[in-house]
Amino acid sequence: MTIILPEDSSEPLYRQVRNALERAMRNGQFDTVPLPSSRSLAEELGVSRNTVNLAYQEMVAEGLIVAEERVGYRANSAILNEKPVEGDSLLRETRVDWAQRLKRRLDEDLPIIKKDYNWQAYPYPFIYGQVSNSLFPITAWNRALRTSMEYPHVHWSLKDGGSGDDPLLVEQLRTTVLATRGIRATPEEVLVTVGAQHGLFLTARALLRPDDEVAIENPGYPDVAHILAGAGAKLVPVPVDGDGLRVDRIPSSARMVSVTPSHQFPTNVSLSKPRREALLASAHRHDWLILEDDYDAELRYVGRPAPALRAVDPERVIYVGSFSKFLAPGLRMGYVVAPKPLIEQLRLERRYTVRHPPGHIQRALALMILNGDYQRAQRKQRAALREKWELMAKTLKLAFGDSFKAPTGGTSMWVRLPDGVYADQVVAEAAKNGVLIESGASCFSANHPEAQRYIRIGYAAIPVESIVPGLSKLSKVIHEAGRTPNATSTILP
Ligand SMILES: Cc1ncc(COP(=O)(O)O)c(C=O)c1O
Repeated sequence: MTIILPEDSSEPLYRQVRNALERAMRNGQFDTVPLPSSRSLAEELGVSRNTVNLAYQEMVAEGLIVAEERVGYRANSAILNEKPVEGDSLLRETRVDWAQRLKRRLDEDLPIIKKDYNWQAYPYPFIYGQVSNSLFPITAWNRALRTSMEYPHVHWSLKDGGSGDDPLLVEQLRTTVLATRGIRATPEEVLVTVGAQHGLFLTARALLRPDDEVAIENPGYPDVAHILAGAGAKLVPVPVDGDGLRVDRIPSSARMVSVTPSHQFPTNVSLSKPRREALLASAHRHDWLILEDDYDAELRYVGRPAPALRAVDPERVIYVGSFSKFLAPGLRMGYVVAPKPLIEQLRLERRYTVRHPPGHIQRALALMILNGDYQRAQRKQRAALREKWELMAKTLKLAFGDSFKAPTGGTSMWVRLPDGVYADQVVAEAAKNGVLIESGASCFSANHPEAQRYIRIGYAAIPVESIVPGLSKLSKVIHEAGRTPNATSTILP
């Protein structure tokens, strides 16, 4: 409780108390808790209880507070909001025209991904981009957090790192995480970020000039489109097929190509070998930079993953990685691997925004990798996801027949709806049945004719035992939607 009386005022003391309380109520101090008892407030302010009681009586008479049995007094927010604040007319005269002050967002016309962050309320949360709490290595993480607060690690957990990173994490990234992707990097070529999205943002800011053409996947990751457009780029949506990005459709005038080669977002197809080779060769020929978003490379369940594009071309590939899909998105940990001059600039961009990702989290993650807990958790999580992936693939194949092709990895399945059935309607109807899925519409460029043809079904967060009953409910919804095509016409794109 912070009630402050004026240092010097000629007003009677009880009025000073009353005004101080009104100010505190207007600032929201008593929105959720009752006002203090007259005894404790009198003690805190060093005034008599009578003075406080007089102040309370006046506020009751004005309707500013109401007495509640066994609770005391509560702020009456209805009256507080109605009653003008002193000096309010002056405030009104000098009001800022925020609509006019705000800069126009260069990405304002792009589709926005819709997420229900209340996904845990659904019995069947086929949400993408969230993880199951039960699979997170909580004991190992707690141990790592605790050790990070002990000597000698505590220094790295608590210090202001300026524009630097935790050297232990950079070392573990280089020797363990990146090495498994075939990437060799010096410490000067690695930057730790607040998630992969931060890495994409810093890169766009450092490299793009107004109207630079950037090829993006279509369908693709809506947030990268926002990031690139926000940095002034002219987006060139390039189609995707069963082999990934159609490299032959990238204009030679592009300055940069944004791509998710391991598991294309949102289709999950892998960029085929001929396409990878064509992409790297064309990049060399036309001087494109490649922004490789390898956000979930670890999560592959059949065959061996292809090495990262950066492993093949460390000169013009900027590699962005994340711990969100495997560990947890709430940790906000990611990294960029790129040539030294770019990393130096990204470091400065980062310094003037977040300075650096929290030292404590960096050190804990480094310790987890160093002691092998990370690798153990990764194996466990991959096995659990693989089980879900198998179940999803089998059940969706039964429901959709040969038109459904299961991807080799990732944490979601991209499903083409039968003709005459529209994604937004299926999402809405499924939600009424407790099934949370996502419409694929926001992954397509604006007004794309296929925008309503796909849904995305994520399986990282949903418990394995809910998959089959959830998919069976979903399949009923889709079947019903197909039988009532007229009902869908209102939501056509
Ligand atoms: C394709 C893609 N790239 C990047 C990200 C961002 O990941 P992070 O949580 O590490 O910022 C996501 C998250 O959903 C993603 O799907």
